Amino acid sequence: MMTKKLEEARLFEQNNRISSLEKPLFHLTPPVGWMNDPNGFSYYKGTYHLFYQYYPYKDVWGPMHWGHATTTDFLHWDMEPAALAPDSVSDLQGCFSGGAVTAPDGRHALIYTGCRWDESPEENSNVRQRQCIALGDGIDYEKPDLDGKGGNVVIDSTSLPEGFSKEDLRDPKVWKDEQGYHLLAVSRAEDGYGQLISFDSEDLIHWNYKGVLAHNDGGKYGIMWECPDVTVIDGQEVYMVSGQDMHAIGREFFSGDHAFWFFGNGGGHRGEAVERVEPHNLDYGFDFYATQTVRTADGRTILLAWMQNWDTNFKPRDQKWNGQVTIPRELSVREGTLYQNPVRELKKYREEICRLEKQSVRAEDGPFRRDDLKGRVLDLELELSGEYYREFTIHLAHDADHDVSVIYDRVKQMVTVDRTLIGSIRDIPAVRSFPVHAAGAHKDGRDPLKMRIVLDRYSAEIFVNEGAQVFSTTFYTPLEADEIFFESDGETGIDLAAYRIEM
Ligand code: FRU
Repeated sequence: MMTKKLEEARLFEQNNRISSLEKPLFHLTPPVGWMNDPNGFSYYKGTYHLFYQYYPYKDVWGPMHWGHATTTDFLHWDMEPAALAPDSVSDLQGCFSGGAVTAPDGRHALIYTGCRWDESPEENSNVRQRQCIALGDGIDYEKPDLDGKGGNVVIDSTSLPEGFSKEDLRDPKVWKDEQGYHLLAVSRAEDGYGQLISFDSEDLIHWNYKGVLAHNDGGKYGIMWECPDVTVIDGQEVYMVSGQDMHAIGREFFSGDHAFWFFGNGGGHRGEAVERVEPHNLDYGFDFYATQTVRTADGRTILLAWMQNWDTNFKPRDQKWNGQVTIPRELSVREGTLYQNPVRELKKYREEICRLEKQSVRAEDGPFRRDDLKGRVLDLELELSGEYYREFTIHLAHDADHDVSVIYDRVKQMVTVDRTLIGSIRDIPAVRSFPVHAAGAHKDGRDPLKMRIVLDRYSAEIFVNEGAQVFSTTFYTPLEADEIFFESDGETGIDLAAYRIEM
């Protein structure tokens, strides 16, 4: 039976749905209101389901619901009615992040963190987080009464060792293999830092605690950890975690909240600790947090994330939706590192608008422009070559008042993204540089640099050297700011293929 709260949310989103013309073309956004983490990315009954942290009623975070969308190509998203509202005794203060898997009886199971203040409802300090279950048919979900009092909790802090936090226990990732169901969650250890813990189960209702897989030793990578994920790519186990409240580490990690990955040694499913936790940056951009992966029917691992961050909340005041999800990215492991590239389905929707071969861009000729090169929904493939220049700049989303620049410093081997001119009234991070790693054919500044830039109205995702490094940024500027041009401080050779994306 649908509760009043869920019915209200569904009615509200139906009556207040924002026109798709005011939104990105193929990046998932909420129908109205606020979105943060993607949740429950899963394949069920021939369709990919993606849920997300959702507050329909305002453009800011509020009591968390789960929004819902489905897709078959990762680019066209069908908006489904909200899946969860905070309406059970176990989740009255919010349905936080979690995962999805097919239940033994064939239903679609959502396993998520229910928030509830146990003692004093007025005080945040007593918020308890526990893992809850809802079961459904891919559209409507029901929270089973597991304790005779309307509670749908399957894991709470009573199953944890002494000393683990009773408050911070959240964001379950669930999956199934030949041994049964597995669950990875984050918890706060006795020392106050985040850790990954695992459980297993035969029926999704009764879970056994297995152990600590990884611990944020000494708090080098943030304080609490959030949104854990794990996948196996060509036999290599890969973990993903989002670290809260990080301090910068060189130019590799920036201050604030940050998603990173590390290799495991394959025993995670059995609750064995990862031997050496060596985090690497998942995305150097301003707007990236809280990853989710899914294993596709054809064996790919696809990753996406919230293309925003807790410190970068700055959309225009009159925009009634807030938050988007990155383009789904195919993961691969090569030469000991993780590569991310836009889902191959994107190529189906490309139409070439401009191609340049060995075009020389010279300082003395001024900015290099072409009449056929502009737009805000594009896929740009670029290769920069030559040794007679130091800086090459790509101007995107440009007009007299606006600009997003991507600057490659060939000598320092750094890429800088500058979004100072995006009309923000908040002092958000606007300029950020990251070091270009040796990857594939690119060993140092003497080698060509490859970039692929996917633009979708209000964002750019920059894939460097075939996806060895990525930078995601949003910018909510008028769509008329659609000029693109290049500048070199010497002479740079460019190969370019530019495609309009239409769907
Ligand atoms: C991460 C996070 C999660 C939590 C959710 C609440 O962005 O803080 O840990 O489940 O957001 O919306």
